[in-house]
Amino acid sequence: MFSNLLTHTRHINSPTRNRHNLFTPSLLALSIGSLLSTGATAQTLNLSSPDKQIVLSLSDDTGRPEYQIHFHGKTVIEPSRLGLVFASLGELGQGLRIKSSHPASANKKWQQPWGEQEWVKDQHNQLSVVLTDGKIDLNLEFKAFDDGIGFRYHLAAQNALPANTPLAITDELTEFNIGQSDKATAWWIPSRGWNRYEYLYRTSALSQVDRAHTPFTFKLVDGTHLSIHEAALVNFASMTLDQQRDGKLKADLTPWSDGIRVKTQAGFYTPWRTIQIADKATGLLNSHLILNLNEPNKLGDVSWVKPGKYVGIWWGMHLNENTWGSGPTHGATTSETKRYMDFAAKYQFDGVLVEGWNQGWDGDWFHNGDQFSFTKAYDDFDLPAITAYGAKKGVRLIGHHETAGSVTHYRKQMNDAFALYEKHGVTQVKTGYVADGGQIKRIDENGITRHEWHDGQFMVGEYLHSVTEAAKHHISINTHEPIKDTGLRRTYPNWISREGARGQEYNAWGSPPNSPEHTAMLPFTRMLAGPMDFTPGIFDLAPKGLDAENRVQTTLMKQLALYVVLYSPIQMAADLPRNYQKHLDAFQFIRDVPTDWYQSIALAGEVGDYVVFARQAKDQQDWYLGALTDENARQVKVKLDFLDPNKRYQAQIYRDGAKADWKTNPYDYVIETKEVSAKNSLTLALASSGGTAIRFKAL
Ligand code: NOJ
Ligand code: CA
Repeated sequence: MFSNLLTHTRHINSPTRNRHNLFTPSLLALSIGSLLSTGATAQTLNLSSPDKQIVLSLSDDTGRPEYQIHFHGKTVIEPSRLGLVFASLGELGQGLRIKSSHPASANKKWQQPWGEQEWVKDQHNQLSVVLTDGKIDLNLEFKAFDDGIGFRYHLAAQNALPANTPLAITDELTEFNIGQSDKATAWWIPSRGWNRYEYLYRTSALSQVDRAHTPFTFKLVDGTHLSIHEAALVNFASMTLDQQRDGKLKADLTPWSDGIRVKTQAGFYTPWRTIQIADKATGLLNSHLILNLNEPNKLGDVSWVKPGKYVGIWWGMHLNENTWGSGPTHGATTSETKRYMDFAAKYQFDGVLVEGWNQGWDGDWFHNGDQFSFTKAYDDFDLPAITAYGAKKGVRLIGHHETAGSVTHYRKQMNDAFALYEKHGVTQVKTGYVADGGQIKRIDENGITRHEWHDGQFMVGEYLHSVTEAAKHHISINTHEPIKDTGLRRTYPNWISREGARGQEYNAWGSPPNSPEHTAMLPFTRMLAGPMDFTPGIFDLAPKGLDAENRVQTTLMKQLALYVVLYSPIQMAADLPRNYQKHLDAFQFIRDVPTDWYQSIALAGEVGDYVVFARQAKDQQDWYLGALTDENARQVKVKLDFLDPNKRYQAQIYRDGAKADWKTNPYDYVIETKEVSAKNSLTLALASSGGTAIRFKAL
């Protein structure tokens, strides 16, 4: 029954054999045969996606395991090494032979409690392989979906390695070999840099990349789009990529401060290494591979996790109008919070985020994380009175914990801090780990201070710990300066959003601020990992004037489009309330747009150029569309065939005006309505760094 998904070939190991010819019919024609091998002969195992367009083959032909991937019959990943290196065991790579394999397949749907897509299809073929060097067995699991491949290692406890034997991983040998890398285009940010993930994306020939974070997105010379990432990063170091020679990207696990990459035990699984593969750029956006490779919800009833929209005492600090710390312009005061709660109630926002309410912000808070109290408020902030006031108005306080990277200090207070918030009805907390790269402060068992990377194994554990501890208090977490997303929201649905890229804040003080192409880059890169708390909706685009370096480099309409394009179940209206008063007509879109969806479709786009998304509200009535472009004005024609063919809709269109241009005229916009149906098309005219936002209201 598995002969379609798995073909098995066996041949005498010959060093001269051309490894690129694995797909000749004569080799593929061999039957599945016995899956057991003595290891004396080389073997090749093939696994295809359900639609058969993606074929992975695993071979020990060269005396070590290598995989390669074909898409529509063409090589997209050339033969690439597999394996792990351990301090105690040495290399499990060279010399490993295929010992046995076991195929399986699945075709099911599962439901998200919240998300960009309520029902997610999980259809894949699977192959579990045991490799051996004669002494130790290493398992590899592969899954082939129509939108890509995932694989992971599992070192099971065995006679030579009893359960819980401590193991130190010093290297991962996984490679992703890309042919014609000088002709492939990559979009990437550097890894192991001081600024975590907060960089502008670079566009270069793939061969120009040195070390990069994932999701790492690239386009081959034939137009195939791929993205390398990982899924279910738990109790492991995150994988970054190191280009060792042209086209040879090697897994580069972020190390601990002592140089070890991963500290684990016999019986461990690695995260899934993922390769999303699509004919065109939008194919990457419509993929659910990462979620499908995560485990189902482990938290049980999560009805307490609530998507929604919020405002907050936040932008004022970034603009230097207010301070986080105490003093005459302290932002987080009782009266100011009540004023924000009034605004939120009037315009039906769910929450008010307040930063700078707790003691410890005075002075150089970036470097004094040990000064933070997560339970003691400043004198001018009355937590019980504020939350009681909000409760009357139907608005919740959203909590905030900035650690400045002092995570041991935070961990000690965490339970009390969440308990305090829970007592006062707070159900969502934004956390922060500002600290220059490598400057996360860990106090080890001997009281010695160590500095760890944000994406090393230690912090992978700390971030998840905060999420599981918060869950005990029915609190959802929105992590800033996070570990990258790897789809863990499926397993822990209270990990509601995170930052993990340059957000809006860079427009207030970044040098340079976010470029016009930045938000045309994010969907195809950072957002492939999962939701982002970008904090859109700045309406005063140039508080220091249009010519100041620090301003928002978009039109007003592009700010609206961000709510649809940059998916997050929680979305902020990030500007000061007074700035919304000036454009209440445009503000209406932010009031209307939902943050929880029945389904989402990327309709059009090219990486770093433009993108168009349509999303259907969870109640399945209205649809919303968001389109945005980089610095180039453009027209994009979209068919409305995603709409229900049996309904008519009022399209409420928020678009750039004829003279709009982010640099000179960002406030020129038109709001108009049109009656449309699924048979119509619309031509969207996007200004330079402009956008369109549409609500299709079912009539
Ligand atoms: C960085 C976060 O991204 C930002 O939103 C927050 O205001 C500051 N840290 C202070 O916690
Ligand atoms: Ca940040």
